[in-house]
Amino acid sequence: MKTIEKMYDLSGKIAIITGAGNGIGKASAIMLAKAGANIVCSDLNLEYAEETAKEIQELGRESLAIKCDVTKIEDLELLVNETISKFNKINILVNNAGGGNGGREIFLELTPNYIENIYNLNVFSIYNLSRLCAPYMIEDNYGSIVNISSMSSIMQSHKMSVYGSSKASVNQLTKYMAVDLGPSIRVNAIAPGAIKTNALAKVLTPEIEVEMLKNTPLKKLGEAEDIASGVLFLASPASKWISAQILPINGGGEQDLDL
Ligand SMILES: NC(=O)c1ccc[n+]([C@@H]2O[C@H](COP(=O)([O-])OP(=O)(O)OC[C@H]3O[C@@H](n4cnc5c(N)ncnc54)[C@H](O)[C@@H]3O)[C@@H](O)[C@H]2O)c1
Repeated sequence: MKTIEKMYDLSGKIAIITGAGNGIGKASAIMLAKAGANIVCSDLNLEYAEETAKEIQELGRESLAIKCDVTKIEDLELLVNETISKFNKINILVNNAGGGNGGREIFLELTPNYIENIYNLNVFSIYNLSRLCAPYMIEDNYGSIVNISSMSSIMQSHKMSVYGSSKASVNQLTKYMAVDLGPSIRVNAIAPGAIKTNALAKVLTPEIEVEMLKNTPLKKLGEAEDIASGVLFLASPASKWISAQILPINGGGEQDLDL
């Protein structure tokens, strides 16, 4: 049996994280680096990506910061090409960049443009980037793709139909990708509950927080590190027989923004 250290050891592995400049993406990038991986930090905002990359270099790992809007195919191609130029392989992909409108999607006011943008950001980006990375994972015979979904993918709530249905799409896409890309690549998703990041801060008030914790056995909101530790598990050999799964990390319950 492997030692605990070996089960979580990512030494020599190359990981790409999207949206690595903040929140869950940043915490995941740092967590994977602590386990030994070298990290490509990509983000819409280059400065944020550079800050994460600097923190990773201070840990003694190699890291590259790349400006990448996941909704643009040319940016995704550049991201993969630059990763290969520097590291010559790809083993882990965390499809993290995503979002919605924080529970403010009034159905009768939705526009085709908004719906298309959210699906581009949350779903099509995963198709496009995974498609570009998969051949390198197969070549190196070690691949783990972790898609960041959301509890909204399995809950029902007001004013979340586009975001929630796009994340439900991520769940099903995760399962189909796992079937198509095994055995070299494992594909899993994490469905976070409410995590204290900038995205949530935009809609959180103390009153909303109290309401949200009513149905949460662990009686607090999540932190980015809570999701990052799930990412580490799914990216590492500790989960070598786990694929096609959606892992909720949610304090044991549901935090509804629909108050
Ligand atoms: N925070 C939560 O409560 C929560 C809950 C469930 C799911 N999620 C999911 O977790 C993921 C990360 O969310 P977060 O809360 O950490 O967000 P965040 O706002 O804290 O950070 C998002 C990062 O992604 C970058 N980004 C935004 N659009 C991008 C694009 N088009 N291309 C590349 N980068 C882009 C931003 O610059 C930012 O650095 C998202 O997929 C989100 O849907 C978050």
